[in-house]
Amino acid sequence: MSTHPITDDTGDAGDWLYICEAGDIPPLGARVIERARGPALAVFRNAEDKVFALLDRCPHKGGPLSQGIVHGEQVTCPLHSFNIALSSGQVQAPDEGCVARFAIKREGEAIYLKRNEVASIGIDDGAGAPQPLTLTVQRA
Ligand code: FES
Repeated sequence: MSTHPITDDTGDAGDWLYICEAGDIPPLGARVIERARGPALAVFRNAEDKVFALLDRCPHKGGPLSQGIVHGEQVTCPLHSFNIALSSGQVQAPDEGCVARFAIKREGEAIYLKRNEVASIGIDDGAGAPQPLTLTVQRA
């Protein structure tokens, strides 16, 4: 596996941060986006070529959702099989819970995440304001 670093000085303009091409995400799989701080994100692609992003941490016991099974618009956690809606992060009944979701913008094949969400969601280290971004997209 190789990595593709993304930093805040890449010239990306506006609120959206370019992450990868949709084709870089395996169908029915996920690509892991490591951040300098906080848990990683997982960007998923389903059979209909829709792309979603969640925190890569199951709300049950922290399982890596990026290693789960994508079906329809859900992912099944690899540890204890909670089903989680990819569009909302909501755990499906009879289980309970919710994982943070991230907004996606798609322009053609280019996938973007919202800069302020990536810099803040799921990061609770008491450091206050969001910090500059350093991301790493893991490639297969
Ligand atoms: S850690 Fe995901 S279902 Fe238990």
